[in-house]
Amino acid sequence: MTAAATASATETAIERALTALDLETKARLLSGQDWWTLPALPEIGLRSLVMSDGPIGVRGIGWTPDDPSVALPSPTALAATWDPELARTAGRLLGQEARRKGVHVLLAPTVNLHRSPLGGRHFECYSEDPLLTGEIGAGYVTGVQDQGVGTTVKHFVANDSETERFTVDVRVSDRALHELYLAPFERIVAAGAWGVMAAYNGVNGVTMTEHADLQHGLLKERWGFDGFIVSDWTAARSAVGTANGGLDVVMPAHGDPWGPQLVAAVRAGRVAEDMVDDKVRRVLRLAARVGLLDGVPPAVEPDDRPAPLHGPDVARYIATRSFVLARNVADLLPLDSTALRRVAVCGALATDARILGGGSAQVVPERVVSPLAGLTLALPNAEVTYAIGADPRPRLAAAGGEQWSSITATLRDADGEALYRAELSTAVARWLGALPAGVDPTELASVELSARCTPHTSGEHQLSIDGFGLFRLTVAGTEIFDGPLFDGEQDPAETFLAPVERRFAITLLEGEPVQVTLTQQVVEGMAGAVHFALGHAAPTASPDELIDAAARAAAEADVAVVVVGTTEQVESEGFDRTSLALPGRQDELVSRVAAANPRTVVVVNAGSPVLMPWADEVAAILLTWFPGQEAGAALADVLLGVAEPGGRLPTTWPRHADDAPVLSTAPTDRTLSYDEGVFIGYRGWRAEPLFPFGHGLGYTTWAYESLTVDTTADNPVAVVTLRNAGSRTGREVVQLYVGPAEPDPERPTRQLAGFATVTAAPDETITVRVPLAARSTQIWAGQWRTVPGPYTVEAARGVADIRLTTTLEVTD
Ligand code: BGC
Repeated sequence: MTAAATASATETAIERALTALDLETKARLLSGQDWWTLPALPEIGLRSLVMSDGPIGVRGIGWTPDDPSVALPSPTALAATWDPELARTAGRLLGQEARRKGVHVLLAPTVNLHRSPLGGRHFECYSEDPLLTGEIGAGYVTGVQDQGVGTTVKHFVANDSETERFTVDVRVSDRALHELYLAPFERIVAAGAWGVMAAYNGVNGVTMTEHADLQHGLLKERWGFDGFIVSDWTAARSAVGTANGGLDVVMPAHGDPWGPQLVAAVRAGRVAEDMVDDKVRRVLRLAARVGLLDGVPPAVEPDDRPAPLHGPDVARYIATRSFVLARNVADLLPLDSTALRRVAVCGALATDARILGGGSAQVVPERVVSPLAGLTLALPNAEVTYAIGADPRPRLAAAGGEQWSSITATLRDADGEALYRAELSTAVARWLGALPAGVDPTELASVELSARCTPHTSGEHQLSIDGFGLFRLTVAGTEIFDGPLFDGEQDPAETFLAPVERRFAITLLEGEPVQVTLTQQVVEGMAGAVHFALGHAAPTASPDELIDAAARAAAEADVAVVVVGTTEQVESEGFDRTSLALPGRQDELVSRVAAANPRTVVVVNAGSPVLMPWADEVAAILLTWFPGQEAGAALADVLLGVAEPGGRLPTTWPRHADDAPVLSTAPTDRTLSYDEGVFIGYRGWRAEPLFPFGHGLGYTTWAYESLTVDTTADNPVAVVTLRNAGSRTGREVVQLYVGPAEPDPERPTRQLAGFATVTAAPDETITVRVPLAARSTQIWAGQWRTVPGPYTVEAARGVADIRLTTTLEVTD
C-alpha cells in the first residue's frame, strides 16, 4: 500500500472507531492506566499503547537489571557528530530496541537548548544552536519512526533548566521563542514526528500543558502537526485548562486530572465534545501508525523496516564519531600502540565510567566497557597500570566486583515468602514502574539485598545504605542499623534520584567472608518505585597519598591517560548544577600527572561543559561526553588511531563560568526571564571561550580552497571546495555561518546556516554543496520576515576558525 493509501485507510478506520465510543470510554483512552501505558479498547480492536524513556536507550516498562537495554552515547555526543544520518542510525537502533521490548512510543528526543551550561539536563539536550538541534533531532525521530515506533519530541517548550521545573514561568520574547526555542520542534514536526511532550514549566504566564496558543494555535494549526501531545509525567494539573489548551493525553495515571472530571467538564459545556474527539483521533492515529489498531495497516509494514543493527557496534561507532579532540600538542595523538611499553591510566572514572546522565534518561546496559578495560584489551603488549589518583564520587560505589559474591535481591510478601529472587552483579535494587516477573505491587512487603563480602584487606571498611525509606542492615547476623532514612526537605525527584546516604564503619579481616543483608520495608503506595543500594569501600590511602601514587605511576610510563569527569550527583534531571568545576580533587590530579609526564592525555568524561584550569598544561584533551556502554572500546579506538575522533563541539566550552552569556538558572519569584533574548551560546559570547562552538581537531589537516554561493535555486547554496592536506584519510565537518554584513545590534554577528560532513583521502579535493537555511536571513516579527541586504557567508572549522568568506545579497 502506498503511504497515501495507508493514511486514507487509517482516517476511515479512525472515524468508524470514534462513532463506536461513548464519552466515558473516549475519556478513558486519553489518560494513562498506569505509569507507562494507555488502556486497550477491545471493542474497537485497539491494543494497549506502551511508552518508555528515551533518549539514549529504551528502558522498557521496568527499570531493572534483568531487562537490559543498549546504552548509546549521550545526546550531546550524538550532536557532536554533526551527522543527521548517524542520528538516524541511532534512531533505527532504538526503534529496534523498542520493538524488542514491546514499546510503541519512545519518550525522546530532548530538544531543549543549552541556554546555560548549568542546566541539569544539558547532557540530554543536543546543542546551544537550534539548527544543529533540529537537524540531529529530525534524523533521530525519522530513524525511530522508520521502525514503525513513535517518538515524543520534548519538552515543549522552554524547559531549558531544572530549578523549580514544575512551577517556573519562563518569560521569553516572541522573537527568542521562535528563532531559538521553538525552531527545533518546528523542524522535527516538519520531518513528520508522531508525538510531542508538553513541558512542566509555563511560558509567559501560562503553564505549557494548558498553552492553547502554542499547543493548539502554533503546533497543531500553524505547523499542521497531526500527532499527539502527551503531558510530561504529572505535568497536567487541571481538567478544563489542559483539555482546552490542546493537550491530548495525560500521563501517568497517578494524579490524573482527567477521567471523570473530563467527562463532567464536557457535560457541563466547559469542554466541547469535538475537542475530545480530536484528541481521540490523534491517539487512534498514533495507535494505527504503530500497528495497534486492528485491521489498519501500520505506517511501516514489517517488511519495510530497516535491516537489524548490532547495538554494541552502533554504540561504539557513534562514540568514536562523537569524541572531540580539543587539544593535541605536537600531534601526541594518535598513539602508536607498537611503541608503547607502559601506559599509566589514572582517575576514578577510568574504572567506573560515567556512561550516561542521571534521571529518566537512565537505562541498564548489559555491559559497560570501562576506559581501563578498553585500553588494557587493546594494548596486549604493553603494561597498563592503574592508579585512582582522586575519587570525586561523594557516595560509596555499590557493592560489587571481586570482593563480593552471591549478590541476591529477594522480593517478599508480608509473610516473608519470596515472590521473586535474582542474582545481581552489583548491590542495587531498582524497579521503577513495574516490578520484575509480574510481581503484584500490592503483595510486596519487603525487598532484601544480601551478599557475601570476602575482604582483600583487613581494616575499617565503609558500608552504606543509599536510599530513602525504612531499612535494616546486618553484618554477619549483627544489626548495624534499623530505622528510617528520609530527607523531607528535598524535591521528590531529587530524593528519588539522589537519595540519602548513611555510612557505617565496619572492621573486617582479609580473607574472612561475612554475610551482609540490607532489607527495605515497603511503605504503602511505594511498591512501584524500589530504588536503593548497598555501598562499599575498602580501606584506602589518604587523598594526598592517592595523588602521589598516580603522579609516580605517570612518571614511569610512556604516556599517562587521566580520566576525569562529573558524577551522578552533578549531571542529572531534577536539579541544576551548582558549579562547572570538576568535583573533588581531579584538577589537582591532572596538574600533578601532567607535571610528572609531558605526554599526558586528559579524557573528559562529562555530558556537558566543565572547567579545565589545567588546559594549557597538558598535551592532549579528548572530550568523550557520556559515551554509552562501549566507552572504553571507543576510547581505545580513538587514542590508538583505529578511528579518528570525529566530533565537533555542539556547544561552547567556557574558560570561566562567568563568561557564559547566561549562567544562573535560578528563578526569581517563580519567574525565569530570558533577558538575553536571542543571544545564547556563541550568539552572545563576548570573552574568548576555552573551546568555541564547532571546534574539534582530527588526525589530518584541511585546506579550504574556495567558497561561492549558488543563487540560481530558490534558496542559496554554499559551494565549498576543500582538500585533505594531511597524511591520513579523515572526516571534516564543513560549517557555514551567515550574518548581516552591516553589524546589527539586534541580531547575532553570525549564526550556523548549514553544515555537511565529508571524508577524503590524503591530497583528495572535495566539493560540497550546503543549502543555507532561510532562517539565517530572517527574523521573527509576528511572522517570519526576510531582512534584505548584504550578508557575510563564512566556511569554517568552528565559529572561531573561519577559513573562507564571501558575500550574499538578499532581497525580499
Ligand atoms: C521527564 C520526562 C520523562 C518522564 C517519564 C519526566 O520527569 O521530564 O523527560 O520522559 O519523566 O519518565
